[in-house]
Parts: sequence; C-alpha cells; structure tokens
Amino acid sequence: MNPGVDVAAKVASLAARVQELLRSPGPDANAGVVSWLRDVEAAGALVKDGAVAQLGPHAASADNLRLAARVAVERLLQMPWVAPETKAALHSYLERNPAARQVGRYRFSSDWMSKCEAEWRDTLAPLAGKPGVRALEIGSFEGRSAIWLLENVLTHPTSRITCVDLFNGEYTKLFDENIAASGAADRVEKLAGASSVVLRRMAPEPTFDFIYVDGSHQTYDTLEDAVLSWRLLRPGGWMIFDDYGMATAQLTPHSHMPRPDIGIDAFLTAAASDLQVVRKGFQVTIRKNPA
Ligand SMILES: C[S@@+](CC[C@H](N)C(=O)[O-])C[C@H]1O[C@@H](n2cnc3c(N)ncnc32)[C@H](O)[C@@H]1O
Repeated sequence: MNPGVDVAAKVASLAARVQELLRSPGPDANAGVVSWLRDVEAAGALVKDGAVAQLGPHAASADNLRLAARVAVERLLQMPWVAPETKAALHSYLERNPAARQVGRYRFSSDWMSKCEAEWRDTLAPLAGKPGVRALEIGSFEGRSAIWLLENVLTHPTSRITCVDLFNGEYTKLFDENIAASGAADRVEKLAGASSVVLRRMAPEPTFDFIYVDGSHQTYDTLEDAVLSWRLLRPGGWMIFDDYGMATAQLTPHSHMPRPDIGIDAFLTAAASDLQVVRKGFQVTIRKNPA
C-alpha cells in the first residue's frame, strides 16, 4: 500500500474518533481518549517518515498535524467527564509536543508555506531581488509566509511588506519575535485589526506589486478582502489566494467548512476583464492586466 495513503487513512480515522469522543462520550470515553492519544503519537511518528505529502495540502506538514492534535487535546481538557489521570496524560502530551518548534532562527507552530514554495518562486521570480517591491499580506499569523517573502522575494533593502492581521492572540508574540529575528523588522509594517476595517483606511491607490489573501476564510470576508485590496494592486501585479481548495482537501467531512472558494470565484467573475488567472489549484494566482 502507498505509505502516504495509509497515513491519510489513519489521520482521518483519528480525527473521526476524537470528534465522536467530543460529541458523544460513552462509558469508556476515558479509555478511548488514552488509546486515541497513543495512536496520535504513533501517527505523528509515521508523518515524520515523509509520507505526509499524500495527506492533501491542508495537512501538508507534521507541524499542521501536531497543531490539529493540540487543538483536539485542548478541547478534550475542557470536557467535564475527563478523569484526573486522563487529564494528566493529555497535559503530558501537550508538554511533549510544544505548540511552537524552532525552525532555524524562528519559532513556528504551523506550516502553510512549504506547500506553495515552488509555485511562489516561479510566480514571483520577476519581483525577486528588485528594489522598491511592495507586498501586502492579509493574514500573517506567526509571520511564516511574510518571512518567506522577505527572505526570497523582498530581499532588496528598499522592498517592504505590510502585514494586516487581527493580531489578537498569543501568536502575535511569535510574530513579533520572528520578525525581529529576521533582521528585517524595519521593512515590515504591522497593521492590527479586521481587514475589512484596516483595508478601508488605506488610500485606494495602486501601491502593491503582490498581495497575499490569507486572512478570514469565510466566503464573504474573502470576497471583501479581494475587492478592497484589488484597488491597491498595481497594474501587472500578482494576487494569491490561499485555501481555494480547502473545502475539498479536508481529511474528514466537516459540517461548518468555510468556503473561501465561493468568494474567490465571485471575485474572479466580477473582475474577469481586468485579470488573468495564472494558476488555479489549492491556491489561486491571478495577475492584474498591465496598464
Ligand atoms: C492561516 S493564518 C495566516 C498564515 C500565514 N499567512 C502563513 O502562511 O504563515 C490566518 C490569519 O488570518 C487572521 N485573520 C482571520 N480573520 C481576519 C480578519 N477578519 N482580518 C484580519 N486578519 C484575520 C488570523 O488572525 C490568522 O493569523
């Protein structure tokens, strides 16, 4: 059997098991949690073997699987039926699998960047190393994609990135530390708040050569981010939307799946005469027609 498919099936089954435990714990729920935890760790060991590529883009890294497992463990810890010894096992898992791990100079708990590096290198090659390049990112989290841009595209000392995010959680500390560690903090503008508010405050002039839309994934929010930032994109500039394929890439069916793809498609239809679709896969890349 393809080892990747094998891991995908295991991860899907682990996700279904914990959802069931959270939804309707039976009399053996505590034993179920302990055996689930054991299987999570065993699956984690398999993922490190490199089989993860088969899991689909949304789980395309050991970091993201660990993040998903930590979220589930934290939810289990809130359940009133969880016995003290089960709680001890859950806490022990959290201690052994810290939220963030060291990646070179940085600390990250997630990785949504590795999956698209090759495509970004290709698309953004015309901007790489050029002076005065301006990038806008909607949704920065811990700074992983912003740092990738700084290290691979915005390498000229006059190139800059503007990062828009709610910046309202613990991840903000990691963002600040990571940006400081990049040595390029003076080329990063941090704008805190909902993008629907922050983008409206920006002068609607073509300022940016590249815009990455990766904030809220709700349909209307994605559409609004696209519409509000489109006027900020220079003619000939590129815009990339993350998670276009998220609804179809999930390992398990999800009842409240955000649908950014619907918002992205609505925007592509509305602005069709002003753009070219460069790529449509898990991400969508478009280029604004040159002036
Ligand atoms: C998937 S993460 C971004 C990941 C980042 N681009 C990377 O690849 O490293 C999504 C981010 O969007 C932010 N976000 C969610 N809703 C938002 C909104 N309405 N306005 C601004 N940021 C938002 C979240 O706080 C989170 O940090």
